Amino acid sequence: MTRVVYVNGRYLPYAQAGVNVEDRGFQFADAIYEVCEINGGRLVDETRHMERLERSLDALRIAMPMSRRALGLVLREVVRRNRVTTGLLYLQVTRGVAPRDFPFPGDDVAPTVVCLARRVDDAKRAARASAGIAVKTMPDIRWGRCDIKTVMLLPAVLAKEAAAEDGAQEAWLVDSDGFVTEGASSNAWIVDRSGSLVTRPTGNAILPGVTRRTLLDLLSREKIPLLERAFSVDEALSAREAFITSASGTVMPVVAINKVPIGNGHPGELTLRLRSIFHQVAELSH
Ligand code: PDD
Repeated sequence: MTRVVYVNGRYLPYAQAGVNVEDRGFQFADAIYEVCEINGGRLVDETRHMERLERSLDALRIAMPMSRRALGLVLREVVRRNRVTTGLLYLQVTRGVAPRDFPFPGDDVAPTVVCLARRVDDAKRAARASAGIAVKTMPDIRWGRCDIKTVMLLPAVLAKEAAAEDGAQEAWLVDSDGFVTEGASSNAWIVDRSGSLVTRPTGNAILPGVTRRTLLDLLSREKIPLLERAFSVDEALSAREAFITSASGTVMPVVAINKVPIGNGHPGELTLRLRSIFHQVAELSH
């Protein structure tokens, strides 16, 4: 659990940290967030997370709450005060506090900034990776701007709950044409029959994952063929390998989709290789 939470300029003990009941993040999900991996006490791919944060804020016309440099200092301080070496950093920025009314409040309303860091059990995560995870497909009922990392996560919550009730650890969301968009909180990948990696191109239908982007760098370094195109559930079921990418799991093997084993039902060889070398290309903060 996090010990210290940054809220609007103050580092508060967890139990005392809170936001106003009229915060627009609470009332309208009028807020964006980032989740960043902490590895060896350092932030992984901070630059890309900051770029995406600015992009999300821009899309919603929320002002950047402070300079990127100042925000970077806050993130580092939160990691340091929580003494996290392996874990996750969570940052949320909302449009701020104002009496409940749908249109934007005036420019005098400052964004709310919350940041916390928590440990992840490395051994548990490694065990999960060596077993691989199960996925359940669910209709993608989200909105038309899934490229913005908003806290409006109810479709993801419902999909993940349905997956969990079925013994699966992730849901793969499927569009009305039968193509996988992405995971409820991850990007979706398969290795096709010819050994190429396949993942959906960025656009409004998916979140441009930072882990996805960094993995693309790794693929070009390793000269592994990549096809950025949509794939169907049927194609995924007959794929050689499947995996998901996210800051919380980096490259995580998928061994079953809707209870159908993928490949030989064990984590794929290429997937495990990519997982083991992922951090060679990721940026580590100072
Ligand atoms: N989820 N797609 C969705 C819908 C996501 O929520 C996430 C991340 C990703 C992967 O993005 P990245 O590689 O930048 O983590 C893709 C985070 C981890 C979460 O909500 O906890």
